[in-house]
Amino acid sequence: MAQIFPPWWNKLPLAAALAGVLVPALAVAGVWYFFSPWYTDVGYRPAQPVPYSHKLHVGELGLDCRYCHASVEISSVANVPPTQTCMNCHQVVKRDSEVLAPIRDSASSGRPMRWIRVHELPDYAYFTHRSHVAAGIGCVTCHGRVDEMVTVTQMAPLSMGWCLDCHRNPAPHRRPVSEVTNMKWTPPRHPQLRLAQLERERPVNPPTDCSGCHR
Ligand code: HEC
Ligand code: HEC
Ligand code: HEC
Ligand code: HEC
Ligand code: HEC
Repeated sequence: MAQIFPPWWNKLPLAAALAGVLVPALAVAGVWYFFSPWYTDVGYRPAQPVPYSHKLHVGELGLDCRYCHASVEISSVANVPPTQTCMNCHQVVKRDSEVLAPIRDSASSGRPMRWIRVHELPDYAYFTHRSHVAAGIGCVTCHGRVDEMVTVTQMAPLSMGWCLDCHRNPAPHRRPVSEVTNMKWTPPRHPQLRLAQLERERPVNPPTDCSGCHR
């Protein structure tokens, strides 16, 4: 008798059963992928060409962020400092250190250091440091305790949901502008009074419409 159904037909129930397992498994994997820190880059900590330590320079020596990231208040980008900023001290301090050789090479050749970028938004999202700093959002709110980091690590997901969470209710994240680079600032005892005062002195209105961040 001619076979109407090919032999693999027998396996169909098995295939259906497998699909019943596989499809949900893939869905779970997808959710895991998109919402896990791996996808959002939380914890990203690339090794840098020179083991520059914020813990030493900020936490112990007490340098202010703006000594090096000088454009953070006036520009969309917080610049990474030019080699000359390091040479201000390292011309004298640790001038024979082996780990500082790339800095000395960069200073004598004029070729900029190639620091590896840690935080990076896609090109289609617009972000500017200037407005956030002026609105009293501290560096620590978005970058964590940089003063305790030997190697800079990304602490926030920088996802759209993360931006919007704050934009919908920025008040609790605000502080006096004078304290934006202070990693240890804590709100005074009457937070409601403080918030009311900040709102009175400088009301803010972060964008929540698409064109605010996708220009
Ligand atoms: C003495 C100079 C210096 C000071 C002071 C300094 N930084 Fe940096 N910062 C650097 C250098 C150099 C890099 C690039 C190398 C690296 O990532 O470690 C950097 C990188 C960073 C990055 C990561 C940039 C990226 O690629 O995404 C952040 C965030 C940052 N600094 C925040 C701060 C904050 C906040 C402060 C103050 C609490 C501060 N820095 C103080 C020199 C400095
Ligand atoms: C205000 C002065 C100052 C500036 C500016 C400065 N440093 Fe330093 N740096 C120091 C001091 C002080 C030490 C610790 C020296 C010691 O351990 O005796 C140090 C130590 C280091 C070390 C460890 C060296 C070793 O052999 O252990 C590295 C690496 C380093 N700095 C990189 C940098 C880089 C990169 C920059 C520029 C982004 C920079 N520093 C800017 C003062 C400075
Ligand atoms: C509201 C959140 C937020 C605050 C507050 C903030 N940053 Fe950033 N920072 C970011 C984001 C987002 C990026 C990535 C920007 C991009 O890719 O365009 C970034 C990137 C950086 C970089 C890498 C260079 C650049 O501009 O892309 C440095 C350095 C930096 N920040 C330092 C600082 C310092 C210092 C402060 C405090 C004075 C600060 N940031 C405050 C969110 C913030
Ligand atoms: C912790 C709070 C906070 C986070 C997180 C935050 N923002 Fe904001 N953002 C603000 C505040 C507050 C303002 C309002 C400034 C004002 O009205 O003066 C603002 C303003 C802005 C503006 C308008 C700036 C201008 O000058 O027109 C843009 C664009 C923006 N944010 C993008 C982003 C993006 C993109 C992210 C995420 C990567 C982000 N923000 C994360 C608090 C935040
Ligand atoms: C406060 C800033 C902000 C606002 C407002 C905003 N976005 Fe975004 N959006 C972002 C950022 C930042 C990213 C990049 C997220 C990332 O890299 O994970 C993004 C990513 C996206 C993506 C890429 C999707 C993805 O998951 O990669 C789409 C699509 C998008 N936004 C659409 C919108 C639409 C539509 C609106 C208005 C309803 C909107 N956005 C409003 C900040 C914003």
